[in-house]
Amino acid sequence: MTVKTWRCHICGDAYIGEDRPTHCPFCGAPDRHLGPAEDYKEPTVDNLTEVSKDNIFEAIKLEVDNAQFYFCASRNAKDIELRARFKALGKVESEHAETLAKIVKAQKPVIDRDTTGRHEDDTALVQESHDREQKAIERYGKFLGEATEPRVKEVFSALVEIEKTHMDLADKK
Ligand SMILES: [Fe+2]
Ligand SMILES: [Fe+2]
Repeated sequence: MTVKTWRCHICGDAYIGEDRPTHCPFCGAPDRHLGPAEDYKEPTVDNLTEVSKDNIFEAIKLEVDNAQFYFCASRNAKDIELRARFKALGKVESEHAETLAKIVKAQKPVIDRDTTGRHEDDTALVQESHDREQKAIERYGKFLGEATEPRVKEVFSALVEIEKTHMDLADKK
């Protein structure tokens, strides 16, 4: 067994394993964004447009809000798979907030894992998950269209793809 270090070109996190995972375990990016750590180059973005800056700040807020919803939902759900799924999604959305913050050189966003929300039933939680992902996909599609910087385009296009997988998951249950 030979393990190696892989690195995600979206979130920058490293994964140790024999094979490239199908998706980044941290941000959920599909495997084409992962490569051997020795080939990794830190992404740089200079001269962000005002439009991209505003869009990224809006996206950070959205990710923080969704992460907090998921951590809360992971405690409130009754179903054991849903509890695990929502916790994993909370971590993924937290990673997205951090990835976006790096582009605008903002501080690491603060995510409160202990917010308490309405205690809804599982069906309502899954519906809210679906609605939140749908909104994220719509906003990021717009932001992607407005972006001119290669790194901003790369991140928003990966996020659209990742949030679609989250919505598919919500649609299955
Ligand atoms: Fe990643
Ligand atoms: Fe996200």
